[in-house]
Amino acid sequence: MNQYPEIEVKNLTKNINSKQILTDINFKLNHKSHLVIIGGSGAGKSMLIKCILGLQSLSEGKVYFKGNNVSIKNERPEFLKQIGVCFQGNALFDSYKVWENVAFEKIHTKQLMSRKIARDNAVAKLLEVGLPTETADLYPFELSGGMQKRVGIARAIFSNPDILFFDEPTTGLDPLMSRKIIALIKEIMASSMKSAITITHDINLALSLASEILLLHEGHVEWSGLKTQIFKTKSKLIKEFLKGTIK
Ligand SMILES: Nc1ncnc2c1ncn2[C@@H]1O[C@H](COP(=O)(O)OP(=O)(O)OP(=O)(O)O)[C@@H](O)[C@H]1O
Ligand SMILES: [Mg+2]
Repeated sequence: MNQYPEIEVKNLTKNINSKQILTDINFKLNHKSHLVIIGGSGAGKSMLIKCILGLQSLSEGKVYFKGNNVSIKNERPEFLKQIGVCFQGNALFDSYKVWENVAFEKIHTKQLMSRKIARDNAVAKLLEVGLPTETADLYPFELSGGMQKRVGIARAIFSNPDILFFDEPTTGLDPLMSRKIIALIKEIMASSMKSAITITHDINLALSLASEILLLHEGHVEWSGLKTQIFKTKSKLIKEFLKGTIK
């Protein structure tokens, strides 16, 4: 087994126009663990994910993937091939059919895969996330919010990545659909034996999915540890989160 964590973030700081958005962030994502990054609105969750994925430059610090420094541009393409991202708004292309959205990466990059094989693989992933074969040839706007979320998840797992990122996976869904999506994510994590990072402001989602939790507050790590330790902490902020008083 690889001696390195799946992801390690070291001393990550992000400033924009002299405003410090993230301050000295440190954490590890271990193999087979599910880290949930929780924080109120404006805490810096999305910025942290953008910095990890290389969508935003770092002001200071480094991000490692299996021991390789992926804050260096040349190292990033290999890293990006091994992660799957489920975006908050699903980021589906309305002019593409559902299966084309799921197989988007393969049919729009120079990776060799015929459209027939890409479609077959996309249909298999759709079935995995609970969508019937007929869904493949529909367009995203023909689907409900819950179905679109499943398509976003099918796309994230399409290439069987090592690490999954879920950005606010239940936002905008009704409570019943939220529970179904959480159950689906748990099922995917249990069967794939991979690692994941989820970002959310929802403590119940965090408690339901996480093996580890990191609380981000005003751009710094307020608390991090195993989920099982969270009820023992003296952190006032964590207590407020647990009471559901911070959104
Ligand atoms: N491109 C940008 N330029 C300047 N400031 C930014 C930029 N993007 C984010 N910020 C600021 O960084 C802080 C953190 O924003 P971020 O989007 O990471 O918060 P968040 O924790 O994801 O919040 P939410 O739960 O509301 O999505 C905010 O104060 C925001 O205004
Ligand atoms: Mg955000």
